[in-house]
Amino acid sequence: MKIAVLVSGRGSNLQALIKNLHGFDVEIVAVASDNDDAPALRHARTANIPTGTFIAESFDDRTARDLAIADWLDENGVELVVLAGYMALLSGPFIERFRDRIVNVHPSLLPSFPGTRAVEQAVAAGVKVFGVTVHLVDEGIDSGPILLQRAVQLDGYSDPTEVHQILQTIEHELLPEGVRLMASGAVTRDPGNPQRLIIGR
Ligand code: GAR
Repeated sequence: MKIAVLVSGRGSNLQALIKNLHGFDVEIVAVASDNDDAPALRHARTANIPTGTFIAESFDDRTARDLAIADWLDENGVELVVLAGYMALLSGPFIERFRDRIVNVHPSLLPSFPGTRAVEQAVAAGVKVFGVTVHLVDEGIDSGPILLQRAVQLDGYSDPTEVHQILQTIEHELLPEGVRLMASGAVTRDPGNPQRLIIGR
C-alpha cells in the first residue's frame, strides 16, 4: 500500500515509520509538510522520499492548501495518509477525499486531552496514567474512531517534556503498528456503532 506522511516538526515518528515499515507491504511515497523548516523533511530526503511543502502564506485559505496537498497525494497514488506530528487542522474537504484513510498519533489516552499541548494538559490535571492513541481522523479534534491505545503508569512526573519523551517511545511502536493494520485491510467499522473499530483477521 502506498502511504503519505504529513509532518510539521522534528519527525521522530516519521523516522520510526521509515524504519519499522521496512519489509512490510507498505511504501512511503510522499512526505508533506505545512512547515518548510521542519527537520522531518530532512529525514524524508535522506530516505529518498519525495517531499512537498505547503505553507499557509502560499494559499488563499486552509481549504485551498489542503486541496493542493490532496491533489499532490493523489498524483503520487497515495492510499493512506498518516499524520505524524502534523500540527495543522485538516479541513473537511480533505477529510472527505480520504475518508477513513487518515491515521493520527496523539500523545494522550483519547478522549482525554484532545487538541494541542495534550501532555501539558495531562500533567496539569495530575493524571497518573498517561498514554498514546492511534486513531482515524474525522472532522472533529482528535475525535475519530480509536484504532490502538497503550497506557503507561507514571507517578510523580511533573515535567511535560520528560513525559512526552517516554510517550514518544510508545508512539514509535504504536503508529507503525496501526499503519500495518490499516494496510492489511483488517480494520472495519462496527456496523452497530460506527465510532468503534473492529480489528479482524
Ligand atoms: C508527537 O509526539 C505527536 O504525538 C504529537 O506531535 C509529536 C511530533 O513528534 N502530535 C500531536 O500532539 C497531535 N495532536 P515528531 O515530529 O518527533 O514525530
